[in-house]
Amino acid sequence: MQAAPGNEIGLKPAIEYVFDNRHESAKMRYRELSALYDAQTIRHIEQRGIEEGWSCLEVGGGGGSIASWLCTRVGSTGRVLATDIEPCFLEALAFSNLEVRRHDIRYEGLPERRFDLAHARLVLMHLPGRELALQRMLASLKPGGWIVVEEFDTLSVLPDSNVNPDEEELKVIRAGMRVLRAHGVELRYGRWLPQQLRRLGLCNVGAEASASVWQGDSPGTRFYKLGLEELADPILRSGLISEVEFVTEMRRLDELDFLMPSPMMWTAWGQVPGPVPVPGVEGLTVQHQVPSSECRR
Ligand SMILES: C[S@@+](CC[C@H](N)C(=O)[O-])C[C@H]1O[C@@H](n2cnc3c(N)ncnc32)[C@H](O)[C@@H]1O
Repeated sequence: MQAAPGNEIGLKPAIEYVFDNRHESAKMRYRELSALYDAQTIRHIEQRGIEEGWSCLEVGGGGGSIASWLCTRVGSTGRVLATDIEPCFLEALAFSNLEVRRHDIRYEGLPERRFDLAHARLVLMHLPGRELALQRMLASLKPGGWIVVEEFDTLSVLPDSNVNPDEEELKVIRAGMRVLRAHGVELRYGRWLPQQLRRLGLCNVGAEASASVWQGDSPGTRFYKLGLEELADPILRSGLISEVEFVTEMRRLDELDFLMPSPMMWTAWGQVPGPVPVPGVEGLTVQHQVPSSECRR
């Protein structure tokens, strides 16, 4: 199998996740993230056929909005395992069908062939070793189980005043991206996902990307601003922007006449091949109805 660039399989990366769930603004960042993307995440998971009683894995659950929705959706006969390197928000959730684990997907294994669904949003792009993390998620799925992965491609639709003279190219966003890259973040990872899932032998692979226009002082620009504030020190140390420019441009993100194209959010999904039990008929299984060329195993 060919590894995608940026995957140092087996190597312990020297760099750590750039944000911190214990930061004072983390809760606000998750509120904006949830407002931006929960509805589409839920739509994609519903389209994979989630049912009561499913066993689900949420990797890098962050603020816990999707873990909470999964717990409610699968009901008392279902189970949800939600993991994070810093699970402080997950630990505050009160669902009897939820298990929370402090877990680093880069180094630690997961229960194998356990889940009907594994989901991660904006986690793998942050991780050097993301290929191994993805493989761990796949190994955790039952035959017939679904993976849904959602990651940004922040580079394909950058503000560009050559295309549209009204688009403003903020230096602070460029500098923020430089800092993220220096921390091992793959800013285009979302765009690689469908091919990655195919290469890993999944069936019924599909993907959808979404982008919109973010206005100043909206969930998108507030989400970016909170992230950039958390990264203020390395951004200023990068020398790409002065302190005065930093303050001015951060203020710009609050102004209602400011508009920017959002990053592309890619959602990709795929299904583990293999016989799937027919619900209610003990001992009966069916194979997926997919072209054999789609299933390599
Ligand atoms: C950008 S946040 C996204 C949170 C959540 N998935 C969402 O979309 O609302 C990334 C999350 O991944 C977690 N994370 C980062 N590195 C991780 C790792 N190696 N293993 C597990 N979780 C990790 C972070 O602590 C954080 O909660």
